[in-house]
Amino acid sequence: MFSRVLRPSLISTRNFSTSKQNNYKVAVCGASGGIGQPLSLLLKINPLVSELSLYDVVHTPGVAADLSHIETAAKVTGYNGPEHLAEALKCADVIIIPAGVPRKPGMTRDDLFNTNAGIVKSLAECAAEVAPEALIGIITNPVNSAVPIVCEVLKKAGKLDPRRVFGISTLDIVRANTFIAQEKSLNPKDVNIPVIGGHSGITIIPLISRATPAVSFPEDKLKSLTTRIQEAGTEVVKAKAGAGSATLSMAYAGARFANSLLRGLNGESNVIEPAYVMSDVTEAPYFASPLVLGKCGIEKNLGLGNLSDFEQDLLKKAIPELKKNIEAGVKFANQ
Ligand code: NAI
Repeated sequence: MFSRVLRPSLISTRNFSTSKQNNYKVAVCGASGGIGQPLSLLLKINPLVSELSLYDVVHTPGVAADLSHIETAAKVTGYNGPEHLAEALKCADVIIIPAGVPRKPGMTRDDLFNTNAGIVKSLAECAAEVAPEALIGIITNPVNSAVPIVCEVLKKAGKLDPRRVFGISTLDIVRANTFIAQEKSLNPKDVNIPVIGGHSGITIIPLISRATPAVSFPEDKLKSLTTRIQEAGTEVVKAKAGAGSATLSMAYAGARFANSLLRGLNGESNVIEPAYVMSDVTEAPYFASPLVLGKCGIEKNLGLGNLSDFEQDLLKKAIPELKKNIEAGVKFANQ
């Protein structure tokens, strides 16, 4: 499933379809932020993007002017402030949302809920109106609650298509690939670790038993590696010492995920990426698992697959926490 041939890349025009389009409108909400700026840069150099719409409540004219000088085809427009949101999102094929506050040392992702839930809700309300067909990728934390918020908003508006809403958990996969490659002296490019569950602490479940290439570790090492992958975001928050959380690695991961969405839209086959989506593969109504992406978003959810005893145990611990996070999001959206 995660062979080297199928490994998603950052930008790719590999195409197996006769109906290729190569001109998609991508909107970034929160485009002036720590993630938004490098993510927009990577999208500007993606040949599948013809229109790059940058929305934020500050600084978008400058970010857009700067990026617009790069010698690629994508036309860049900056939209500043809520009165321009509808125009920014109108008819977007893909909307990526890194809008909201990041963590400071000592904070959990849940501590961001009060500020970020409202931001995500208002962006989703506008998307429901002006871009109901868009594939929406959510980076804003807490992802475990933000995705249910967006889905509830779209449901209320009669516009929910669960195949089109994604929590971007790609950074967990990117980190797992990197850390395992370091341990085994492999090239990270050749390593693939599926990560399932959610995107915070114990809800992050790396499936090291399903690594490509196959790897094995003594139990104590397996435990410490799993904890490192689960806590990798906090590693960055601590190192940045108050200046935010992961931005550059997240921009990379967000661009990789956006590129996979675009490749699916463009008719490429066998585009597989895990993401956190509305799901019936466990008793949690939202869950991250590997997905086959296509012209309408999720073509097929590949589910859990085989788990080792150790991973089954991680899953058991993750589910109650996930359900709590999901309930908080659903409650917020409906209050
Ligand atoms: P940042 O503070 O540097 O940037 C956030 C941007 O959002 C700012 O430019 C701000 O003006 C903008 N913004 C605020 N309210 C807005 C609104 N109503 N509409 C549009 N834009 C708005 O933060 P950073 O570091 O870029 O992080 C953004 C989010 O991404 C945080 O919630 C962070 O926790 C999350 N994150 C998620 C990761 C993941 O793996 N899914 C990894 C790392 C961060």
